[in-house]
Amino acid sequence: MKEALEKLQREALTEIRKAKNKEEFLGIRIKYIGRKGLLTDLLRTLKDVSPEDRPVLGKLSNETKNLISLEIEKALERIAEKDKEGELLREYIDVTLPGRIFPYGRRHPVSQVMREICSIFSDLGFIVVEGPEVELDYYNFEALNIPKDHPARDMQDTFYISEETVLRTHTSPVQIRIMEKQRPPVRILSPGKVYRPDSDVSHTPMFHQVEGLLVDEKVTFGDLKGVLRYFAQKIFGENTEIRFRPSFFPFTEPSAEVDIKCVICGGKGCRVCGQSGWLEILGSGMVDPEVFRNVGYDADEVSGFAFGLGVERITMLKYGISDIRLFFENDLRFLDQF
Ligand code: DAH
Repeated sequence: MKEALEKLQREALTEIRKAKNKEEFLGIRIKYIGRKGLLTDLLRTLKDVSPEDRPVLGKLSNETKNLISLEIEKALERIAEKDKEGELLREYIDVTLPGRIFPYGRRHPVSQVMREICSIFSDLGFIVVEGPEVELDYYNFEALNIPKDHPARDMQDTFYISEETVLRTHTSPVQIRIMEKQRPPVRILSPGKVYRPDSDVSHTPMFHQVEGLLVDEKVTFGDLKGVLRYFAQKIFGENTEIRFRPSFFPFTEPSAEVDIKCVICGGKGCRVCGQSGWLEILGSGMVDPEVFRNVGYDADEVSGFAFGLGVERITMLKYGISDIRLFFENDLRFLDQF
């Protein structure tokens, strides 16, 4: 029986060494030292052993049982330990990995410059107002002293919605809408989208303008010059030189276009300024008395100035951009630079 016990122990230990998972270990425990296991079977033969040998063999079989039981316990513990490690490994956060980058959004360059323009004129007391983009012919043209069939209409190619309705070609109609509602003094600024059927490196069918209007008693051309010089120096830098060039707009008299000294060549003449040394930035003038009459203002009592500027054009000059269409292509490589 002693040999049988030793054999049982050897076989059990070999199986324990080979076993891989919890189920297998539990199976070995049942097979060898379970209540109906091999050791129990073997102990049944104890009664055939001589009485002197019994205590020794009894002790030996207990030791065998304990040894097998202990080895299995140890193996199970090792498995539990490994499971825990695996879990930790799965939850492990590597703090040295580079973080994920979430791209920031930002304002479109045209919006940035439009805001900058509004902020400069706000400091001078101009109030920001808005008007409709789908506009009546009356506000877009007639009331601004541009009658039907007048050659001045050719200055602005127009998208017509119907005979009486257009996509506004400029922000000037907001002047009329405000003056109809409000008595002088008026000091407004009106940013927004305008539309003309044009498309090339300096024209897109939709673009942005900012309109300005100031009406009060005794407003002079000198006031206009002072305000626009202040603006040009704020947006293009303190040393910016400007000049007023006589021009024509149906709604101002006299009218002037304003140029800045070329930001590229400094006035010497280059490709960008067409060798003239100057760059046009806006249209302006003293409000035509006819416009005042259209809104019921007394042209003998009040005077005023108005101006209109193209936001894309200002942005292009400010940042040296050569093609207006870049603004609307939504290419992040371009937009990321502002
Ligand atoms: N509305 C003109 C245009 O889009 C620009 C302009 C010129 C506006 C003179 C004015 C102004 O208010 O006085 O071409």
